[in-house]
Amino acid sequence: MAAEFDEQERARLLKQYSEIATLAGGLAHEIRNPLSTIRLNLNLLSEELENGESARDRRMLNKLVTLQRECQHLEGILDAFLQFARVGELRLHPTDLNRAVKEFATFVQAELAEHGIELSPHLAPGLPSVSLDESLMRQVLMNLVRNAQQAMPDGGLLELQTCERDGRVCLDIIDNGLGMDERTRNRMFKAFFSTRTGGSGLGLPTVRKIIEAHNGSIQCDSELGQGTRFSISLPPYDSPIAQDDSEQ
Ligand SMILES: Nc1ncnc2c1ncn2[C@@H]1O[C@H](COP(=O)(O)OP(=O)(O)O)[C@@H](O)[C@H]1O
Ligand SMILES: [Mg+2]
Repeated sequence: MAAEFDEQERARLLKQYSEIATLAGGLAHEIRNPLSTIRLNLNLLSEELENGESARDRRMLNKLVTLQRECQHLEGILDAFLQFARVGELRLHPTDLNRAVKEFATFVQAELAEHGIELSPHLAPGLPSVSLDESLMRQVLMNLVRNAQQAMPDGGLLELQTCERDGRVCLDIIDNGLGMDERTRNRMFKAFFSTRTGGSGLGLPTVRKIIEAHNGSIQCDSELGQGTRFSISLPPYDSPIAQDDSEQ
């Protein structure tokens, strides 16, 4: 009887959750479009005022710049939110993780070099393939690499390492940047937690959601002033779907 009630309650909560998720996604879209129009018009207005010589023109331009910055911030949050909400059905294909990491490294290397960051891939040969949604995996790498870049404002070293550990396929992303204090370490995966002005605080929650949707796990070691290591672990392609051990 109790089990039956639990099942009903679970179904009710799931339905409620998916309704709220759909509403929130719809709301974000509804806000995104008029916000773009507002920012475009602010851009046009500030272009018109750019060559203005009067003190009044300069005051108005200053206010417009503030409004543009706030709009950009809101757009950033909405984009990150939509990215988070979109992690639904995966398009999985057996994939060579080394190839995916190599392609990503080629894509970001030049930009990182411009910021004084040396990218150093160490890819273990002969890795088993993994069942991957490559486009979502690129989002994971992009979020982690952007965070690392932001933690190395004066440049540094960013390592991308793959290996096989305890029958799992692993990817480590290691930077020698600012690192995190204990408060940040405890909160970094919480939605909307950010220590950056203008940060959405949705990067790491999105990363974790994507990795867990692949039956993988992610953990982080970080020391203030030393740097940060994110370790991702994925099941090999032919391994059975992981069972949830917590329900024993
Ligand atoms: N590689 C890193 N080095 C230092 N701090 C980091 C790193 N990655 C994440 N963080 C911390 O975790 C917080 C949350 O990251 P994230 O979810 O991506 O949000 P955001 O980048 O928008 O702040 C960041 O604000 C930062 O304090
Ligand atoms: Mg981020």
